[in-house]
Amino acid sequence: MARLKVAVLISGRGSNLQSLIDACAAKDFPAEIALVISNRAAAQGLARASHAGIATATIDHKAVADRAAFDAALDRAIRASGAGLVCLAGFMRLLTPGFVAAWRDRMINIHPSLLPAFPGLHTHERALAAGCRFAGCTVHFVRAETDTGPIIAQAAVPIRTDDNATSLAARVLEAEHRIYPLALRWVAEGRVRVVGERAAVAGAEAPDGAMINPAG
Ligand code: GAR
Repeated sequence: MARLKVAVLISGRGSNLQSLIDACAAKDFPAEIALVISNRAAAQGLARASHAGIATATIDHKAVADRAAFDAALDRAIRASGAGLVCLAGFMRLLTPGFVAAWRDRMINIHPSLLPAFPGLHTHERALAAGCRFAGCTVHFVRAETDTGPIIAQAAVPIRTDDNATSLAARVLEAEHRIYPLALRWVAEGRVRVVGERAAVAGAEAPDGAMINPAG
């Protein structure tokens, strides 16, 4: 079966990009990364892509007139790469409704919270301040409103009493690196169907039981 070509959009470190690169290295993985685009030339993720022999592009948001021009440049680069799916991986730019509509149900994002809780920035600080017992991460299809859209997969991690934002972020990030490749696999296999504002994954089961925190 032909592998689904994806474009990965980043702004920085690129550890989620790395998890996708590593997954795509397996012969039987149903997707391949055709292009990595960053809005920042200094993004560490660009070096990760080059190291893996993946084409890269930098589209500097400061070098274009406005958001529409930036998104038009993104769109051109993605289409030229032959990608049929866009993966946002720590891409910290808001996208215009037109761009989001053009890639509807063909663009996914990873966010470091259990959406719809804590969209936006500083998710870990906010989960700690709220006294949450669990934090986590979400892979979802992208809609125009920031950090919304049909959920494909989530991972929950416990919050410990001695956590700070750094320790919690590290625990969540490990989970991010597990669910992003999984979600990409399911999308590339054509197993994810969006109905209304919900996504269903064919042949994937929910785990049994409850995680309780504190455990007692
Ligand atoms: C990740 O934690 C990702 O979930 C988050 O930025 C980090 C990027 O790290 N994304 C967002 O907050 C988007 N709303 P990475 O560059 O190492 O993948």
